[in-house]
Amino acid sequence: MAAVDLSKLVEEKRFWVASFLAAALLFTLSRYAAAPSSSPPPSPSYGHRLNALVDLTLVYDRGAVCLDGTPPGYHFLPGFGDGSHNWLLHLEGGSWCRNFKSCAQRKQTNLGSSDHMDTRAEFVGILSDDQSQNPDFYNWNKVKIRYCDGASFSGNVQHEVKNGTDFFFRGQRIWEAVMADLLSKGLSRAKQAFLTGCSAGGLSTYIHCDDFRALLPKTRTVKCLADGGFFLDVEDISGRRYMRAFYNDVARLQDVRKKFPHCSSDMEPGQCFFPREVAKSISTPMFILNPAYDVWQVEHVLSPQGSDPQNLWRNCRMDITKCSSKQLEVLQGFRKALLDAIDEFKTRREWGMFIDSCFIHCQSMKAITWHSPLAARINNKTAAEAVGDWFFDRREVKEIDCEYPCNPTCYNAVLDEPYKED
Ligand SMILES: *[C@@H]1O[C@H](CO)[C@@H](O)[C@H](O)[C@H]1NC(C)=O
Ligand SMILES: *[C@@H]1O[C@H](CO)[C@@H](O)[C@H](O)[C@H]1NC(C)=O
Repeated sequence: MAAVDLSKLVEEKRFWVASFLAAALLFTLSRYAAAPSSSPPPSPSYGHRLNALVDLTLVYDRGAVCLDGTPPGYHFLPGFGDGSHNWLLHLEGGSWCRNFKSCAQRKQTNLGSSDHMDTRAEFVGILSDDQSQNPDFYNWNKVKIRYCDGASFSGNVQHEVKNGTDFFFRGQRIWEAVMADLLSKGLSRAKQAFLTGCSAGGLSTYIHCDDFRALLPKTRTVKCLADGGFFLDVEDISGRRYMRAFYNDVARLQDVRKKFPHCSSDMEPGQCFFPREVAKSISTPMFILNPAYDVWQVEHVLSPQGSDPQNLWRNCRMDITKCSSKQLEVLQGFRKALLDAIDEFKTRREWGMFIDSCFIHCQSMKAITWHSPLAARINNKTAAEAVGDWFFDRREVKEIDCEYPCNPTCYNAVLDEPYKED
């Protein structure tokens, strides 16, 4: 008897270790949440079952199309039990394209064309239907909305032809068409609704949060969560505002200015695209989930290509433990810029935040970082617990972690190669 029990225990432990290694490998390989990938095999979750694989549904609506003119789409996983009247939507991320050259490249990928999208998506983290991985939202209706317009669902240009090739900048219309479709499939009856997104999809969430609120009656609970989407308008290590120049290009190319009533005429068009500006006019309760040393931003906002001709930041960009003390000082300055930028939102009673001091990106989209024995904790709560506490008004959640390297629970990313800019 005892021997049998012991072998069971060993088996159990072996399964857990294997699950963790597989998940860690997948995490390392994917690097960022939205890296283009071929159809993924399901990876084990922290529970004892495989993650759900969910089919792609295309939305046919004249005018609402991806960069290359193909229909947009989403993956829908029905809710169950007492979650069946609640809806959680996730807006996919994947950076932006700033000119015809980079948008032309994007048309050849899943981020610009549904012809290149995986027909099935793996639902993990906040999208998981496994209670051990996603304690508060596991049984909700869940939708992953694919990103294929190149400008965070905000462009609306009638038609662009360049050099004999068609480009469609229709993110705003994709948003409207997908919402109309989901409303007809039950979203309109949602008792509670939660709009989420990470990275460029986090920015989309700031942009569309109030639009989402307006789709549902006032009596329903509607909130939004932007994960890894608080991009900063700061100088890079060479003293230039690379990100603002990048956003200026995106905003001009896709004519996003009319989407931003908050934008004053003396601001550059790209400035209006930063969450700090977008968030000022949001009246719906928002949760800001963001690491203070977002790896994507360290790589693309703080030390973008061209800012570091001697490649002195190469190792630090890929692994925070390899940063020199001087580079760490720059990173602490970056953290401070984030805290300054979100300071005005701390006083909003209905808002929540979880700003951990980890070297990571998109924490709601990975089992390890969302809710697992290895997830970062602030005041002993994982991101999943903090977001749940806030959503259901269990407590006020305005968590700001102490500065790196103070938090021993951080799961810090180690990247395997530098990013290639388009
Ligand atoms: C325009 O088309 C020509 C010929 O097809 C091609 O060589 C060139 O690279 C294109 N330029 C752009 C910006 O797409
Ligand atoms: C931290 O949370 C875990 C449950 O997630 C609990 O078991 C543990 O006792 C907590 N530790 C402290 C110090 O509160």
